[in-house]
Amino acid sequence: MSQQIHIAPVAWLSAEQTAAWHAVVSAAMEHDLPGRPLPSAKQVHAQLTTPGLDSRRLFWLATETDGSVVGVAGLRLFTAAGQDHLVELELHVHPAARRRGVGTQLLSTAAFAAQVEQRRSLLTVATDGTAGDAFCTGRDFRRVLTLHQLLLSVAEADDSAADAEYPGYELAGWTGTVPDHLAGTFAAAKNAMNDMPTGDMDYGQSDWDADRVRKMAQVLADRGDTLLTLAALKGDTMGGYTEIVIRAGETRQALQYDTAVVPAHRGHGLGLWLKAAMVRTLKDTYPAIVEIETDNADDNTHMLAVNRRLGFRSQQIVHEYQLDLPGA
Ligand SMILES: CC(C)(COP(=O)(O)OP(=O)(O)OC[C@H]1O[C@@H](n2cnc3c(N)ncnc32)[C@H](O)[C@@H]1OP(=O)(O)O)[C@@H](O)C(=O)NCCC(=O)NCCS
Repeated sequence: MSQQIHIAPVAWLSAEQTAAWHAVVSAAMEHDLPGRPLPSAKQVHAQLTTPGLDSRRLFWLATETDGSVVGVAGLRLFTAAGQDHLVELELHVHPAARRRGVGTQLLSTAAFAAQVEQRRSLLTVATDGTAGDAFCTGRDFRRVLTLHQLLLSVAEADDSAADAEYPGYELAGWTGTVPDHLAGTFAAAKNAMNDMPTGDMDYGQSDWDADRVRKMAQVLADRGDTLLTLAALKGDTMGGYTEIVIRAGETRQALQYDTAVVPAHRGHGLGLWLKAAMVRTLKDTYPAIVEIETDNADDNTHMLAVNRRLGFRSQQIVHEYQLDLPGA
């Protein structure tokens, strides 16, 4: 039956096409992850149409003969040195159109495009126990990393660690782009994330400098997202930082982005201090936010311990899958 499906590349998604994309993703999520908050149409539109940092995107739509969109695929091609071997795939098929080969056709099309772009590794994410998990397991993908997705109820969080004293350190916070006088030391602290556990993933690494840090904040601002950062400073040096994002139009959930403590500043509890202080900041300045979502590599024992101490609870397990592309 797969011959009834037409797969077409899309250079630039129209408003109608992003709405169709949103409809497929929402139907897929409702089916696979019942009870999980769905992205809004505005968020999906912003995510698909805002240029990313050091990356570009390719899109495909799978349509029935009557023109209705039943499947979508997006490929993010990284362009920075150190990651230009890599693509990330997003693939969704409407529940009513599954097991007819649509997913397989979209995957082959996207994987072929990645090979043409001379990429060697294709990454995708699937939630444990879902159709996506079975799809990847039955293909040539390898599981390269397992992540715990955790949720914190802000009202029930134990943020008492925010009261701790760290002589010599002070907290600095900002919204959006880092203040100029902290941009250099912030970029240096971001490079500390490069030793984050990534399992067997062929993720490579990209180095941060002040300019790239500002560009990252601009990408989020262009999407309409709010970026909150708290940093622990020792004199002019940043010992660690934590970032929270509230997506455009979001009213209840915040997303944890990076938390990093620079190696020379580890072992004192700065990670917990920063995250507890961030919970307080959210309570004070964004009282409508009721939960924070994060994910942790299952072997990132320090961060898991910090998150459990704050009160984060396991929500689900997700797997990063990698497809090694021939010929690159
Ligand atoms: C994963 C997904 C894209 C598959 O789409 P699809 O059009 O149903 O895929 P196909 O029909 O090409 O399936 C190919 C094979 O994958 C496996 N598969 C797909 N869904 C499966 C399921 N629910 N249970 C077991 N195996 C499954 C089977 O081996 C299937 O072959 P078969 O139908 O001959 O047994 C779809 O289920 C989906 O949108 N899931 C949500 C998004 C997601 O998890 N994406 C991440 C994975 S890339």
